[in-house]
Amino acid sequence: EKGGFKHFMLKEIHEVPEAIESALVGRFDEDLKPNLKELDEFNLEKVKRILLVACGTSYHAGLVFKYFAEKYLDVDVLIDVASEFRYRPIRIDDNTLTIAISQSGETADTLESVRAVKKAGGKVIAITNVVGSTITRESDITLFMNAGPEIGVAASKTYVNQLIILYTLGLYMMKKRGIWSEEHNIISKQLNESPKIVRKIINNEKINQLADYYKNYHHFMYIGRGINTATAMEGALKLKEISYINAVAYPAGELKHGPIALLDPTFPVFAIAPKDSLYEKMRSNIEESRARNARILSIATEGDEEIKKISHDVIYIPEAHEDLYPLIIAPVIQLFAYYIADKRGYDPDKPRNLAKSVTVE
Ligand code: M6R
Repeated sequence: EKGGFKHFMLKEIHEVPEAIESALVGRFDEDLKPNLKELDEFNLEKVKRILLVACGTSYHAGLVFKYFAEKYLDVDVLIDVASEFRYRPIRIDDNTLTIAISQSGETADTLESVRAVKKAGGKVIAITNVVGSTITRESDITLFMNAGPEIGVAASKTYVNQLIILYTLGLYMMKKRGIWSEEHNIISKQLNESPKIVRKIINNEKINQLADYYKNYHHFMYIGRGINTATAMEGALKLKEISYINAVAYPAGELKHGPIALLDPTFPVFAIAPKDSLYEKMRSNIEESRARNARILSIATEGDEEIKKISHDVIYIPEAHEDLYPLIIAPVIQLFAYYIADKRGYDPDKPRNLAKSVTVE
C-alpha cells in the first residue's frame, strides 16, 4: 500500500504532481484563466476584508494567501490561528468574507471559528480535503483540494494543494475585479505547469545527501522574507514534528531583534532565498548569520552563483514567478524533514504526541 516507498509521507510527497493536477482540473478555462463560478454568490468584487482562520500547516498556507492577495487586490487579509481567533471579537460586515482552511475538515478550533463567524452573520468558504467533513457541512461552500487520502500525520501533499486552491482563488478574485494583467497570465500559466516543475524537484538527491550531514544538529533557524516567511515557518514545523529537532522560524529581518543571539556553529540557518524582490535583503541576513559562524544552508534559484559564496550548502530550485516560490519550495522542505527523521531512526508517518486530526481543543 506504500507503493514501494519506505513511508507514506515519502509516497505522498511523490504524489504531489498528480495531486496538483487534481486540484487544478476544472478550475481553469482554456485560456488558463481561473474559473470558480460557484463563488459568484459571495460578491468577490466587493470584498474588502478577508478573515482567514486555520491551524498548523493550514495556517501557513493561509499566510501565503495573505501576501499574494494583498499584493494585487485592494483587500486586507486578517489571518489568525483558530485557537486564538475563536476567542477574540469577530467583526463582520457586508464586505467581509471568511476563509477556513482545514485538510481534515474536523479540527475543533477551526470548526468553532466557522461556527462563531456564522453566528455573527458572516459567510464562510471552506478549503478542505475531506468530503462530508464537519467543516464542509457547516460552511457556505467548500473548495475541495482533491489531494487524495493523506495517511502520514504530517501534512505534505495537502499543504501544496491548499496553496494551489488559494492561488486559484486569489487569481479568480483578480479576474473578477478587472485587474487581470499580463503578470497574472504568467502566474496562471506557471501554476498550471507546476506539476512538471515539482516532478523534477522531488527527485533531487542532494536533499537526501544534505539530510545526512545535518541530521545530528540539535537546533535550526529557518529564515525567509515576504511570502516565504510562511515557507520558513512551515519548514521549521515539519522538522520539529517529525525529527524532534528544535527548529525556530523568523522573518529574516527579525533576526537582529533577538534570535541572532542564538547563532553559533552548532545552530545552522536554513535560508529560503530564491531570486525575488527581497533577495538582496535576504543576502544581508545570510551574511549577518554567517558572521556569527552559523552554518548556512540556502534554497536558491538555479543560476544564482553568488549565493554559494555566502552559504555552506545550496539546494537549487527552478526559476519561477516570485509569488509561486512557496509552492515550488514546499516539497524541498518536506523532503529535508522527512530524510532527517528517517535517518535519525524515527517513523515520520507517526510522530509522537500528534494525531492526524485534532478534534479536541
Ligand atoms: O486538518 P487541519 O488542516 O485542520 O489540521 C491543522 C493542523 O493540525 C495540521 O496542519 C498540523 O499542524 C499537522 N501536524 C501539520 O503537519
